[in-house]
Amino acid sequence: MGLNSRIETAISNAISVGQGGGQRAVPPKLASGLHYATAPGGARIRPTILMSVAMACGDDKPMISDAAAAALELIHCASLVHDDLPCFDDADVRRGKPTVHKAYSEPLAVLTGDSLIVLAFEILARESSHSAERVAQLILTLSQRTGMPGGICAGQGWESEDEIDLSAYHQAKTGALFIAATQMGAVAAGQEAEPWFELGARIGEAFQVADDLRDALYDADTLGKPVGQDDLHGRPNAVALLGVQGATSRLKDILGGAIASIPSCEGEAQLAEMVRMYAERLTPVAPNVSASRV
Ligand code: IPE
Ligand code: IPE
Ligand code: MG
Ligand code: MG
Repeated sequence: MGLNSRIETAISNAISVGQGGGQRAVPPKLASGLHYATAPGGARIRPTILMSVAMACGDDKPMISDAAAAALELIHCASLVHDDLPCFDDADVRRGKPTVHKAYSEPLAVLTGDSLIVLAFEILARESSHSAERVAQLILTLSQRTGMPGGICAGQGWESEDEIDLSAYHQAKTGALFIAATQMGAVAAGQEAEPWFELGARIGEAFQVADDLRDALYDADTLGKPVGQDDLHGRPNAVALLGVQGATSRLKDILGGAIASIPSCEGEAQLAEMVRMYAERLTPVAPNVSASRV
């Protein structure tokens, strides 16, 4: 099975678990919301990184890597459902279709996000017979990157402060799940988490700069979600700070550092190649650059 279908299968199996697997009565709209929020997916970049690291480390327990990849993407999808709610970014479109609260309702969007978060940890716990030790470490890593003090909750929490610590904000909001991706990939394959922190942190930083560039340069149709959000909400961002050229060269520097930080492992060369390919995909080509933005 190719990497993409392996990831899609793991995610759809996880969603079936959340929907009760046809074994019991469940609220049908919420069950449908779980599917709607996770499929079709976006770039699936986090589970792809996780799997690539797991494979570079030998991937000796694929059931655990599958569960880890699905769990991570469920947390990501949940964060998007909550982020789009009127009390956060109030967005109507995500991944080219109406957001969950638009398609269903606000209560169902809150519950969809909540259910996906809990399901992520259940999916990991279910694999403990394959290695209780790895599963415990995966649950620890994922919870640290999801909640407070250093996970997505902390990242979103910064937006309610008068003064934002920009690097803490970015590392928690965006970086956290990339650190989870590299560390969980290593742990799923029986390796230490710590040496994989830097690669995840650097990819996350690059991703944030690229996201800021796309937000400034692309239109909503190309992106499948609202643009100009950083300016609209007055959020500090790499383009406002460095300009388009400056942000683009910053992106290249960070990715160069990411490749240099890959820990030695059997699949080191393939992993470096993956980051290089990812770097190309990540660097926005500016279709709508207006003079005022450059
Ligand atoms: C968007 O993440 C949210 C941010 C952290 C900026 P992605 O760009 O990975 O979203 P999808 O999963 O591909 O839709
Ligand atoms: C959302 O961040 C990502 C989360 C960590 C919840 P943004 O609000 O910056 O991303 P988009 O533009 O909605 O995808
Ligand atoms: Mg937001
Ligand atoms: Mg948003």
